[in-house]
Amino acid sequence: MTRRASGVPHLITARHSRTPFSSSSVSSPQTEPDPRVSELVTKHLQCPWRRPIATHTLRAWECVQAVLSEEAQCPIVLDSGCGTGESARKLAECHPECWIVAADQSAYRLRLKASIRRSGRIVWVRAELGDLWRLMLHAKIQLKAHYLLYPNPWPKKQHLRRRWHGHPAFPTLLRLGGYFEARSNWSVYLQELAIAIHAATGTNTNLTVFRPTHRALSPFELKYAASGHELYRLRCRLPKQQDS
Ligand SMILES: C[S@@+](CC[C@H](N)C(=O)[O-])C[C@H]1O[C@@H](n2cnc3c(N)ncnc32)[C@H](O)[C@@H]1O
Repeated sequence: MTRRASGVPHLITARHSRTPFSSSSVSSPQTEPDPRVSELVTKHLQCPWRRPIATHTLRAWECVQAVLSEEAQCPIVLDSGCGTGESARKLAECHPECWIVAADQSAYRLRLKASIRRSGRIVWVRAELGDLWRLMLHAKIQLKAHYLLYPNPWPKKQHLRRRWHGHPAFPTLLRLGGYFEARSNWSVYLQELAIAIHAATGTNTNLTVFRPTHRALSPFELKYAASGHELYRLRCRLPKQQDS
């Protein structure tokens, strides 16, 4: 309910507002994977990304490293683009022996005042993902598992380079290795991701429609499932880096 200026409450009707679970599905003129994906990934593999690391991500990573060093033997699970970070608690239940590092660029979504927050073996960090992946790889980290849950789809055709598989940071994501899982409500995104992973590593992926079994893993999953969207999941095991 909202209050009128008079203070008399009135009900919000569907005409005035969308319910929390009324979300429109991805609308895009693109219905097939972009044919440029393999070529773009190959180009990014050949030309390492050299943009300087953002200072805020470097400082945040130093704080994360200090925490991880308390139990340096524990494997690491990364929740990339975790939004509000609720998925991290659920991942911690699935991986009780691991550190869960949940990263997002938005301090607002993470409700973070400092650059990191910690609860047990879960660390939430405000960081730019491309930079964080490079810092982790530089620290010779190989992940136990990596989750990319409902990345921004960037559905316009000209936005291919903003999707993670079209981004110059993508080879770094691949080199972090481990079990990899991405979820989306736009199948084209995951079809392109599958093409990119295969082009870069020769790894076959498993891409399926799925329904969250008993509860959603993340707030976007909850919203999309409750809005009746078809959900998709891509899974694979990324090759281990030989020199780490
Ligand atoms: C659609 S939301 C999904 C959030 C969450 N994974 C979920 O499923 O509820 C995508 C998230 O990715 C984050 N993100 C996008 N680009 C990023 C980047 N370059 N570095 C860090 N976070 C990024 C956004 O801030 C946003 O919270």
